[in-house]
Amino acid sequence: MPDTYSLISPAPTTNMQPGSPLILGIMASGSGSNFEAVAIAIENGDLHAKVAVLIHNKPDIQAIDRAQKRGIPTVFLDHLNYATRAELDRAIVATFQTYQVECVVMAGWMRVITQVLIDAFPDRLINIHPSLLPSFPGIHAIEQALAAKVKITGCTVHLVSLEVDAGPILVQAAVPVLPNDTSETLHARVQIQEHLILPQAIELLAQKINTDRISL
Ligand code: GAR
Repeated sequence: MPDTYSLISPAPTTNMQPGSPLILGIMASGSGSNFEAVAIAIENGDLHAKVAVLIHNKPDIQAIDRAQKRGIPTVFLDHLNYATRAELDRAIVATFQTYQVECVVMAGWMRVITQVLIDAFPDRLINIHPSLLPSFPGIHAIEQALAAKVKITGCTVHLVSLEVDAGPILVQAAVPVLPNDTSETLHARVQIQEHLILPQAIELLAQKINTDRISL
């Protein structure tokens, strides 16, 4: 078993049968290319999961088109309509519960989340970040890497904790920084790796959750 398994605590009680696909809820704020990579991995049989719903907090983003193309329901929760971060998270949790989501993927979700979301999906809430954490957490990770003149950066999929971009790491990929890189060229190469490791990390979790279903 990979070492990463030891970082994941036992699954909460689930009604899902052993062998059934992991029910995913996705959160996105932008283009949704990582969300689409997950959907493609499922279609290709590389990931035993199903995307039940996409939640987005911005209108008119490309992620919506990518979902609609695949018949995946979308729910718009505008963060401007909620007085606090916790209130937004309660609405997110309620939506995911409606869709019987077992595992949540923050795929380019650009809001700080609260304990409300973490408590609803203990060790079943993951995030993708465009750096080799713990380097360059927070916003503008690509620009931070360029400013620091590192020779190698990359991307990380990790379990979410209250501290931003700091939870246990599931999978990482390294990407060389080239001499003439701009934030656009570097981000494009980082995203190629993101699209590989995000489905891999979810499959790790899916296998762990399925093992827990069998032992329940
Ligand atoms: C991705 O590069 C992801 O790592 C980053 O936003 C991008 C979303 O792209 N997330 C963060 O910076 C979170 N701190 P996408 O919308 O094309 O998937």
